[in-house]
Parts: sequence; structure tokens; C-alpha cells
Amino acid sequence: MRFLPVFLDLREGRVALVGSGAAAANKLRLLQSAGASVRWYANGAEGAGTNVEVSVADPRHADFSEFVAVVSAAGDGLDDEIAARARAHHVPINVVDRPDLSTFIFPAIVDRGDVVVAVGTGGASPVLARRLRERIEALLPERIGDLAALMGRFRARVAQARHGRGAGLLRDFWERVVDGPIGAAALRGHWHDAEAALARAIERPDDAHAQAGIVFLVGAGPGDADLLTVRALQVLQDADIIFYDELVTAEILERARRDAKRVPVGRRSGQPGIGQDAINEHLAEAARRGLKVVRLKGGDPFIFGRGGEELDYLRRAGIEVVVVPGVTAAMGCAAEAGLPLTLRHEATQLTFISAQHADGDAQIVWSNYADPKITLVVYMGLGKAASVRDGLIAAGREPGTPAAVLVRGTRKDSKYFVGRLDEIAALAARAADGPGLLVVGEAVARSDIWRAAAERAFAEIAA
Ligand SMILES: C[S@@+](CC[C@H](N)C(=O)[O-])C[C@H]1O[C@@H](n2cnc3c(N)ncnc32)[C@H](O)[C@@H]1O
Repeated sequence: MRFLPVFLDLREGRVALVGSGAAAANKLRLLQSAGASVRWYANGAEGAGTNVEVSVADPRHADFSEFVAVVSAAGDGLDDEIAARARAHHVPINVVDRPDLSTFIFPAIVDRGDVVVAVGTGGASPVLARRLRERIEALLPERIGDLAALMGRFRARVAQARHGRGAGLLRDFWERVVDGPIGAAALRGHWHDAEAALARAIERPDDAHAQAGIVFLVGAGPGDADLLTVRALQVLQDADIIFYDELVTAEILERARRDAKRVPVGRRSGQPGIGQDAINEHLAEAARRGLKVVRLKGGDPFIFGRGGEELDYLRRAGIEVVVVPGVTAAMGCAAEAGLPLTLRHEATQLTFISAQHADGDAQIVWSNYADPKITLVVYMGLGKAASVRDGLIAAGREPGTPAAVLVRGTRKDSKYFVGRLDEIAALAARAADGPGLLVVGEAVARSDIWRAAAERAFAEIAA
């Protein structure tokens, strides 16, 4: 490490900036965003903004001892002279794109208010530093700086209330704030709740509520780990314990914090799961132990995922719950199959149903889906495709309506089949293992998978 990362308080003095091109203008913006007062040696610069004094004097004759730092972006021999002068006065100098002349360099910055992350490569590769910054940007919650500001405001009050209780206890307190319901409320922008809970926790530190953890009901998407939302990823990387369903793929679990405990609670290859009541109790019990609990479900937790029941149970148990949406199977599979679920004229309605109760009983009113402009997506329908076919045709859908079976969508072993509604049971039978969706409607005929199947059929006829 050649450069030590430090954070410089620029309110303590003035910065000299040399140069009038785009590089200098960029540095000026950065210095201004840090609240610096700048003397800008530039010819013809106008409208530089507040705290900037433009000077047309020769910077080589300036009194460098009055500056806290010098930034030179002249881009010619002047940079060498400025660097030599700054060094002679022991003033930190940065020459843009010249680490060899610099005693400090600008890192790539993630700026979230009070939270600032600096990424450096020792001046070797600003491009690499920017790439790293982009990754960190994606992982850091948008309101992390606001959370830091909230904690900053309460810092003295907490120290006073906990005076004499030891640094360890103080650290435990702040860790609970960051990891528990208070931090979660702040990161969602619920300032009132976060402040009120923090004030309560200071007054009543041993209160069960102040000690409690939190449950995140998280949608894992249809299988491809890259389809996790940014928030889902953030929560997974912070989790203490993860209760996951059978639809959650191994590659998604790999994205979670290494030390997080992973508990399967779904049905696995024909084996019954532990049941909804037991899942509810496990979630509540882990939260009561103060843990950051993730309940990870395939797709979206509120679409045929019993997320509503878990939310109700936990709320009634007085446990803080945050819902993180996921990409539902219909959307993930449709995107991968190039299947627009709605079309301006031919497919003006979209309906998701579950076929879990399609056999025999009266739970599905097929006449609701008789309109030829409805794209119908059937979840849990692989084994019920014959009932779906019979119900829809009896209700008036044309037997020749385009239909698709989308199996293990977005996963490495995905399979898609297309045909007519009256063939859908045969298509589903080719699926082997699920999970799978049935899609019925004119939109199917406008998909990539339909076109590819038509091309294959032509090629076979031609051969
Ligand atoms: C219990 S539901 C859960 C749905 C989930 N909450 C969602 O939003 O996608 C399970 C059904 O979702 C569908 N499904 C889930 N993942 C899928 C995938 N990768 N490909 C096709 N269908 C999928 C199947 O119909 C499966 O039987």
C-alpha cells in the first residue's frame, strides 16, 4: 500500500486548483461537493459557483503555504513545476493522471452522505477503481448515509445513558440498532419509527422489543441468482439465519453471507416439509433471539407463496417484518422465452392463477378466462394440465389457442415447449421435472420460443 486512505476535512483551509480543462472542472465539482473553499487558477473560467475564487495570476508565484492541498490539472509542463513547488512547501499535491508527481491521489468514491467509501488502486488503474466502486454502489443501501446521520445525532445521548457500562455493551447496543428493526426502518426511510424506536431503546435498553431481531420475507426470483433484487442481495449478505424453500436454488444460497445458518423448510424430492405452523414458529423464535432472519421463497413472497400468512403470524406475534419483493416465475420465464405477456391489441389482460385446486372441485371458475384476449399463466399446473385444457375449452377458449409450458425457467436446465391448448397436457408430460408454468393465449404466438419451434418444424419438413 503506497497511499494511506484518509479523510481530509476541507473546511480547515483552502485548496488550490490549477488548469482550465475538463479534468480541472471535474476536480472542482468534487472539491465543491466536499465543501472545499477553492482558489482556481484558470484562464477564462466563469460561473464557478460558491466558495470558488477564480484567479488569473500565475500559480507558480502563489504562496503555497496558505493551502491545505494543491490539485494540478494543467496537462502540460506546468504540472511538474506546480508539483515541485507544492512538495517544497510540504503541501499535499495531486497531479491528475500523474501518480508519480502526486503525494496524494483521489480514490473512486461512493458517496452516501455521512457514509463514504473510497476505492483506490494506488493510482495504477482508475478504471478498475471505478468498476469496484460500481459494485459497492450496488450493494450499499441507498439510505445508509441517513442511518449513519441518525446514529450520529443520538451518539452523545446513548453514551450518556450508558455511561460506566463498558465499551462492549455500548458496541452491542449499536450493533442491535444497525442489524435490527431500527436500522431496517431507517433504511426504508421510516424516520419517525426509527427515531422513536431508538429513543425507546435508550430509555429501556432491557425491553424485549429493543432486544428483538427482525424477519425479512424475501423473494428469491425464479432461479437465476442474477435475478435477485439488489435489496434481496443486501439482506442475504447480512443474514444470521436463512429459512429457505425447495424452489430456492443452490446458486442463490451461495450469494448469502458465508456464516449465515441455512435451514431448509420446504418439501424436498417428495419428502414432506416441516409445515407452515412449524415454519412460522421457527421464524418467530429466531427473531426473538435477536437474530436477523431471512425467510427466502422462490419468486415473489406474495404470489402463491404463503407470504401473507407468515406476515400475519409474525405481525400478531409483535415481530418486525420487512417484505422484499422478488421476480415472480411468470415474469422471469416470460423474459427468458421472449414472450410478451401483454400485447396492445391481442392480449390486453393478464391473469395469474394457481392450479393447485384445478381437479374436480369448484375453486376455478374457467368462464372467467374465456376471453380470447386474456393471457392466462397457470402456476402449479404441470400435473393438472389436462384439467386446465378441459376447463378452458369447455368455457369457450379455442382448442387451437397458442399455449406454452415453461419449465425450470431461468435455470441452467430450463426447457420450453409450445403448441396448441388442446395439446397442453402432452407438452406438460414432456417436462419431466418441474417447477413449471402453463401459459395460454395469443401472446404465446409472438414469443421467441414459438418462432424457434416454427423454424425447427420448417427445417424438418425441408430436410
Ligand atoms: C408455490 S408456487 C411459488 C410461486 C412463487 N412465489 C413465484 O412468485 O414465482 C410454485 C410454482 O411456481 C412456479 N415456478 C416457480 N419457479 C419456477 C421456474 N423457475 N420455472 C417455472 N415455474 C416456476 C411453478 O408453477 C411452481 O409450481
